[in-house]
Amino acid sequence: MQSVDNAAEQIEFDRRIVEEQKIEPSDWMPEDYRKNLIRQMSQHAHSEVIGMQPEGNWITRAPSLRRKAVLLSKVQDEAGHGLYLYSATESLGVSRSELIEALQTGVAKYASIFNYPTLTWADVGAIGWLVDGAAIVNQISLQRTSYGPYARAMIRICKEESFHQRQGYEIMYELAHGSPEQKAMAQDAMNRNWWPALMMFGPHDSDSAHSGRSMQWKIKRVSNDDLRQKFIDQTVPQIEVLGLEMPDPEIKWNEEKGQYDSGEINWEEFYQVINGSGPCNYQRLKHHKKAHQDGEWVREAVRAYSEKQQTKKENVA
Ligand SMILES: [Fe+2]
Ligand SMILES: [Fe+2]
Repeated sequence: MQSVDNAAEQIEFDRRIVEEQKIEPSDWMPEDYRKNLIRQMSQHAHSEVIGMQPEGNWITRAPSLRRKAVLLSKVQDEAGHGLYLYSATESLGVSRSELIEALQTGVAKYASIFNYPTLTWADVGAIGWLVDGAAIVNQISLQRTSYGPYARAMIRICKEESFHQRQGYEIMYELAHGSPEQKAMAQDAMNRNWWPALMMFGPHDSDSAHSGRSMQWKIKRVSNDDLRQKFIDQTVPQIEVLGLEMPDPEIKWNEEKGQYDSGEINWEEFYQVINGSGPCNYQRLKHHKKAHQDGEWVREAVRAYSEKQQTKKENVA
């Protein structure tokens, strides 16, 4: 509830939301809008950064110099996405160290897909194709999100994501058209990553705790289930081009609806992984904490340098 003092600001805020105007950092905004944005944007930033781990695992083992170079730049892009998103989140009045603390203590979440292991080279293909593919579907809708810095970050990120999706599909295409062993590897990686990729869109709309409010505020523009359906409809024809078996036997074209029907997600698995019991949750956070600690000297150097500059300025004055 907003206090009476803010009634005028609230009316102005609502008008701008209705008129599709962006809300900027210096604008008044309801406290719940700010909180909801911090939750969603930081979760997004954490996902970009934690998402570097499963793929980073394959940089030195990628099968050729070309594949190494491509994967290296892809993983580096994800660090950049994390950077834009942390900066955009900081514009809401929360510090980077608070956000990192929330991640490392398990208060903040990240996409559950990154708690699954990357067992073979084909996983790198499946991740680029399916996970970045799913991310694009979500992020395209977020280019129209109501908070200006978030919307602008999404525009740049989407351009890079489409390169990520293509490099993944290229890996899958080559494996699927390679030796029987390579084709089997592609099939296995797709089967394992398919369901976690669908889970990326979050719970059904009817079970989603934050969806209604976020849609009202235009933080979210399209519902979880609609985004998931869009992803399925665009990905099934790609599976056909690969010549692989469908990862879900219930996938079937529904002429009447003009979309694909598909099987039900294992929601118990989703909640287990989201709540910390996935195959790699512990390992991902442990690695993040170690990398963060190892970087302490950099943060210390930055602090010392800015203090020195400040003293110099004061002496001149
Ligand atoms: Fe990304
Ligand atoms: Fe990506």
